[in-house]
Amino acid sequence: MSATAAVAVNAVNAVNGATAATATTSTAATPLLAVHDLRAGYGRVEVLRGVSLEVRTGEIVALLGSNGAGKSTLNNTVCGLVAPSAGRVVFDGRDLTGAKTRDIVRAGLIQVPEGRRVFPNLSVQENLELGSFARARERRAANLERVYTTFPRLAERTRQLAGTMSGGEQQMLAIGRGLMAEPRLLILDEPSLGLSPLLVEELFALIARLHGEGLSILLVEQNVGQSLDIAGRAYVLENGTLRFSGTPAELLASPELKRAYLGL
Ligand SMILES: Nc1ncnc2c1ncn2[C@@H]1O[C@H](COP(=O)(O)OP(=O)(O)OP(=O)(O)O)[C@@H](O)[C@H]1O
Ligand SMILES: [Mg+2]
Repeated sequence: MSATAAVAVNAVNAVNGATAATATTSTAATPLLAVHDLRAGYGRVEVLRGVSLEVRTGEIVALLGSNGAGKSTLNNTVCGLVAPSAGRVVFDGRDLTGAKTRDIVRAGLIQVPEGRRVFPNLSVQENLELGSFARARERRAANLERVYTTFPRLAERTRQLAGTMSGGEQQMLAIGRGLMAEPRLLILDEPSLGLSPLLVEELFALIARLHGEGLSILLVEQNVGQSLDIAGRAYVLENGTLRFSGTPAELLASPELKRAYLGL
């Protein structure tokens, strides 16, 4: 392994760590992810002011809201990157509030963060392999095959440095890396950002396909129309507080909500 790869492995190792998590099976009565009255912020600035939401097994839930509403802060708090000041995060019946990111990843809660953060100096394949560092490592080869089948474009470029891939290809790589960990819940933070309309179409088709294969997804998006097309339920976050929770049809039936929060 090259020195760069070793550094990246260590970085991911530091994030993901090595403690095993015990998974329990979620039932219809237990949401896969339940966020209760979550508060978090940066320094003295409170960004999340008591947010409660849930994602059930097999759902696609859209989390909408304008720039700065707190969507990424919510994701990062759920994933252990921002410490909550109050509230609870329960994943698959297990309290993960304030847990280390590595334990959260091990439990199968995987985030593809905003801004497709791939390791630019590592190859496509090395980036994918890092996705299985903390979870599903023993099935790495089979999962690589699966990701390459899902993204033929990546299969053609296994040795290309990630930093030289196009924006769209890097987004596919970031999602592929998330899939390498066999997510039980995949959080996608603005996956369509900066993609051409054609690629956005392709991306939403892919998300719908992954959902069709049984993956539970929390989808943070500014592409409101397309997100509501594929989501079963939606939340609108505004200024750190939920303004709406319900079905896409209910959301679209409210002219005020559409105008005020969705720019529609
Ligand atoms: N690391 C940080 N330190 C200080 N303030 C931050 C930090 N990250 C985010 N913020 C602030 O928290 C607020 C919410 O930001 P956040 O990134 O969660 O919004 P968002 O809904 O994801 O927006 P966008 O749609 O633009 O991605 C913003 O006012 C932002 O400036
Ligand atoms: Mg964001």
